[in-house]
This record gives sequence, structure tokens and C-alpha cells, in this order.
Amino acid sequence: MRLERLLQSQGFGSRKTCRLRIEAGDVRVNGALCRDPLAEFDTAGLTFEIDGETWTYAEHVYLALNKPAGFECTHQPQHHRSVYTLLPPPLIRRGVQSVGRLDADTTGLLLFSDDGRFIHAMASPKRRVAKHYRATLKHAFDDALPKRLLTGVLLTGEPAPLAALAARQIDAHTLALSIDQGKYHQVKRMVAAAGNRVEALHRAGFGALSLEDGSLPAIAPGDCCHLDEKHLALLGYCR
Ligand code: URA
Repeated sequence: MRLERLLQSQGFGSRKTCRLRIEAGDVRVNGALCRDPLAEFDTAGLTFEIDGETWTYAEHVYLALNKPAGFECTHQPQHHRSVYTLLPPPLIRRGVQSVGRLDADTTGLLLFSDDGRFIHAMASPKRRVAKHYRATLKHAFDDALPKRLLTGVLLTGEPAPLAALAARQIDAHTLALSIDQGKYHQVKRMVAAAGNRVEALHRAGFGALSLEDGSLPAIAPGDCCHLDEKHLALLGYCR
């Protein structure tokens, strides 16, 4: 692939911007300075350096973000900052989108990609990918709560009751809950329908990826990491 097109595909601006950056001597490829925008490179395993950072060429990117509270999962936020401000700008220019959304006050694991097939596969109701949450409850845990959530609760606007995949007590005010749908405010509405109230919500895991079991590297709140083939395989996704 020609260098100017390669840089453009990785989110470094228009073809013209990339050409000017290359001609100005701002870009190193596989460790060597290259000032020719039309130079051809094999993209397999290619690394390039720009603005003091080294990048590896990737046809698509897959990211896991540890979302902090106070960020909206939209490009045009209403009341908080956008979650996209937490991602590196070239990745935003590549058009990465979140897989579903978390509420502004929900923390935890949120996936992003610019691979539409991946986003669709992960968000598709048919795939039934499990999402694992930890909910802090307003009222002390009562033993009937898991049973109600596992049996199913009817939410306004839904034709049939929605049931949790798993629900168990962690401590007097904490519930672990897994669901495989992704309806609007689903966890908060299910817990409310079952007679309690969610005060804080954290998504600990998405499918077989977890922020807590070593399946992902440690990601501080507000940081993200790239997912590799091993992570995609854990999600049951083949490129
Ligand atoms: N369910 C909710 O209620 N909120 C979220 O952010 C995610 C799931």
C-alpha cells in the first residue's frame, strides 16, 4: 500500500495532510525515515512512527475501555463529556464506535471497533453475548431478589418478561447480575421491577472478557487497551 494511503487509513488525516506530513519528514516506517508519499509498503506487521509515537498497521482496531462515571457514549453529549474524548484521536478519526452503550453514571468495560461486522456480532440480540454487572443497591439485599430476576420481570414497553442469566448476592448491598440482552437502562429497570434500586452500576465483563479475572490486562479507569486475536477468540469472533 502507498504510504500516504496507509497513513490515511490509520486515522492520520486526509490523503493531502498525510502526504504533507510524509514530505516534511515526520514519518518513519519500520524504523527508517521515508519522505516519499508514494512509496509502497507491505502492511503485514508494519510499524510507523509519527508525532513521537509508534503504531502498528491494523486493518481494524478493537479496543476495551474501562469507562469512568460521568461520560456519555455518544459523539454529541448533552450533560457530560463524550466517552470518545478518552480514545486516541487517530482511532476516533478511523471511526471506532462503541459496542452498545453504558449510561453516563455506569462504569466498567466498554468495547469499541471500526469493524462493523464485529460491532454487529457483539451487539446482535441473536448472539446473546453475556454482560456481567455489579450493582450497588439502595435497599439491603433480600433473598427473593435473585429468584425474581432469574424468573423474569416485565418491563414497561417489553412484550415479555426479561430474565437474568445469573444473579447472586455479593454483600448486603451488592448484586452480581448477568444478562444477555441490551435494552435501555435494562439492569436498573430490572432491579427496580424486582423491588430494589440501583445506586451505582459497574460492568465487570463482556462475554468471556473481564476487567477482573486476568483475561484483559489491568486497565485503569479512563484508559483503554487493544484487543488481540486471543481476546477476539474469547469473544467467539473470527476475522
Ligand atoms: N443497564 C443499565 O441500566 N445501565 C447500563 O449502563 C447498562 C445496563
